[in-house]
Amino acid sequence: MTIAITGATGQLGRHVIGKLKQKTGADGIVALVRSLDKAQDLGVEARVADYTQPATLEAALAGVDTLLLISGNEIGQRAVQHANVITAAGKAGVKHVVYTSVLHADRSPLSLAPEHLQTEADLKASGIAYTILRNGWYTENYTGSIKPALANGAFYGSAGEGRIASSARADYAEAAVVVLTTDGHAGKTYELAGDTAYTLAELAAEISKQTGKDVPYKDIPEADYAAALKAAGLPEGFAAALASWDVDASQGALFDEGRELSRLLGHPTTPLAESVKLALA
Ligand SMILES: NC(=O)c1ccc[n+]([C@@H]2O[C@H](COP(=O)([O-])OP(=O)(O)OC[C@H]3O[C@@H](n4cnc5c(N)ncnc54)[C@H](OP(=O)(O)O)[C@@H]3O)[C@@H](O)[C@H]2O)c1
Repeated sequence: MTIAITGATGQLGRHVIGKLKQKTGADGIVALVRSLDKAQDLGVEARVADYTQPATLEAALAGVDTLLLISGNEIGQRAVQHANVITAAGKAGVKHVVYTSVLHADRSPLSLAPEHLQTEADLKASGIAYTILRNGWYTENYTGSIKPALANGAFYGSAGEGRIASSARADYAEAAVVVLTTDGHAGKTYELAGDTAYTLAELAAEISKQTGKDVPYKDIPEADYAAALKAAGLPEGFAAALASWDVDASQGALFDEGRELSRLLGHPTTPLAESVKLALA
């Protein structure tokens, strides 16, 4: 059985390749990548597959049984890009496509959701067996801000009292590996999120506890947060999107208590304190 993974040189993809190799060995794993140079350290066969170049996709998917389609990162372009992959998978005779969507894609207020929902619909219409992994927020999205928070003396955001059920990238990768290597997942949609939700004030308290420094959470208006992110060097559009997702979080967009992720894993998700510790290391 041959399992291929798109986005294999990305952060989630690298976790998936590593965990899949541990479980099945390297034979039968195909990393689908834009750059073979970037894939040299993966330790599995790599093939060029660019979402924007359909000819590369069909060739790269030859002989593949199961495909993990990791959503791309070019927001606004992805529905077309993912449709290219699904079409190529159909032509190449791929038997099962597993797709990384977003938590509660069908009712999420996140501006990201419509693209994911479109890909889900395309996948369902393709006639290929599918599994949808509706991934919640990566804890790393927030722990990535710990160092600037320490420098600024406060953790800034616009998420108010919203509870965030994030989990570590490694957990979502492990869940993908479970789905890729065990039976019974075809036709299923999993809402994946961390076991224990937290507010940004609780995250700031955990940072303060672990560092011994007072790092309070400061909730600021969306426009101010977007401006601060832009001033920190993020492109204007992305800064605005990040701020809007925080506001969505304040209204519960990143919350879930179904625990489907830990059920798939067979163990609890990575605790927030552990992710904070890792980010500080
Ligand atoms: N749940 C969350 O909190 C969260 C947060 C951020 C993103 N996401 C989504 O989850 C995905 C995986 O997360 P991540 O952290 O691994 O993101 P990432 O590190 O940015 O990886 C994205 C991967 O997509 C590949 N890619 C982008 N455009 C492509 C194209 N045209 N053709 C082929 N491959 C393409 C990239 O290839 P290269 O390696 O060549 O650049 C990269 O490997 C993201 O792409 C995004 O859709 C989720």
